[in-house]
Amino acid sequence: MQAVDPVNNPFAPGAGTFPPELAGRDGLLSEVAVALERVKLGYAVRGQVFVGLRGVGKTVLLNKVEEMALASGFETISVEAHEDKSLPAMLVPSLRKLLLRLDARASLSDKTKMGLRVLRSFIGRFRAKFKVSDVGEIELGVDPEVGVADSGDLESDLPDLLVALAEAAKDRGTQVCLLIDELQYLKREELSALIMSLHRISQKKLPMVMFAAGLPLILGLAGRSKSYAERLFAFPALGPLSGQEARKAIEVPVRARGCTILVKALDEIVLRTQGYPYFLQQWGYEAWNAAATTRITLVDVMAASQRALKQLDESFFRVRFDRLTPREKEYLFAMAALGGSQQRSGDIAEKLGFRANSLGPLRSKLIAKGMIYSPAHGDNAFTVPLFEGFLKRQL
Ligand SMILES: Nc1ncnc2c1ncn2[C@@H]1O[C@H](COP(=O)(O)OP(=O)(O)OP(=O)(O)O)[C@@H](O)[C@H]1O
Ligand SMILES: [Mg+2]
Repeated sequence: MQAVDPVNNPFAPGAGTFPPELAGRDGLLSEVAVALERVKLGYAVRGQVFVGLRGVGKTVLLNKVEEMALASGFETISVEAHEDKSLPAMLVPSLRKLLLRLDARASLSDKTKMGLRVLRSFIGRFRAKFKVSDVGEIELGVDPEVGVADSGDLESDLPDLLVALAEAAKDRGTQVCLLIDELQYLKREELSALIMSLHRISQKKLPMVMFAAGLPLILGLAGRSKSYAERLFAFPALGPLSGQEARKAIEVPVRARGCTILVKALDEIVLRTQGYPYFLQQWGYEAWNAAATTRITLVDVMAASQRALKQLDESFFRVRFDRLTPREKEYLFAMAALGGSQQRSGDIAEKLGFRANSLGPLRSKLIAKGMIYSPAHGDNAFTVPLFEGFLKRQL
């Protein structure tokens, strides 16, 4: 038997890298397909917000949704939120491109011209506040639409803008699929403006739907936004894959290349990765390279485990850890030392020698950075699966 060829390694550990087998997501994808069809038929449709920890496959799923939307004739707008970039700054360039594209499809469409004018007003109003890059009037070729999207209140101006866009799309006989990754990074005001926008769009039965993804802290919305959001979106939880799905994620690509993997070897991978997609790709990748023949054995996986952990420590875990200040790191070390799947804020403070609740601002920073979230009031948990193990390996 010849050795497994590293050149043909099917596994794909990496942020947003499409896996060789998208395991365990068929149910969600068929719901997405139904939602897209319903938008096309003019029904009001609930958007979906995929909620899950780091590395569970949120970005990959959103990319897949975009591919499906494009294949069924939608226009798509896809953005990834950042801690230090505003929602308008992210949206405006894609909105501009889309409106110009719609406008180019037919010579005389009042609605697309209107959309462009509303975009001009919006840019004029928010250029400075949200660092929207300069898109001059010459480029858009229209005057601003006075009195629309120019009040300076994002909660009323963003809805004006997105409604104008959705009306333009409807007028041109198409639909819009808005995709937003890392939704948890939107500021409160931005998120509520987005929710108000989709609320107006749904009331007007316009052909636009949103799919988004974010860390579980997105579920901590409060007040008016919360009740609207619950009516407008479903929040499917993306978790680790079940044992059977995880086996499929490894075995299908291996077999597709004419190789095999022994049951014990598969079991070991499932055990070590706990079914987390990113880890499955990393273990699959290393196991493939460790195999001496076209049959991957338990011994191969044992050898691969060390390399997989080392790789994860140097990349997946490390990039997150390096973004933290020394005090933030201490907080996380205290969480790891306490053990368990979640830790009380009071216990963490006590462990660090502080009064309960005195570390509120530090905790808020860690939440804003997307490192921890609050699964229940006063509780904390890591957003990165198996992060506790990484921290312990640093000691
Ligand atoms: N359903 C799946 N089956 C097998 N592998 C998957 C699946 N979904 C994602 N992966 C793999 O997991 C890894 C992480 O995927 P992705 O980047 O989409 O996760 P994420 O949830 O967006 O993570 P982050 O929160 O860090 O952005 C990639 O290597 C991808 O190929
Ligand atoms: Mg992602």
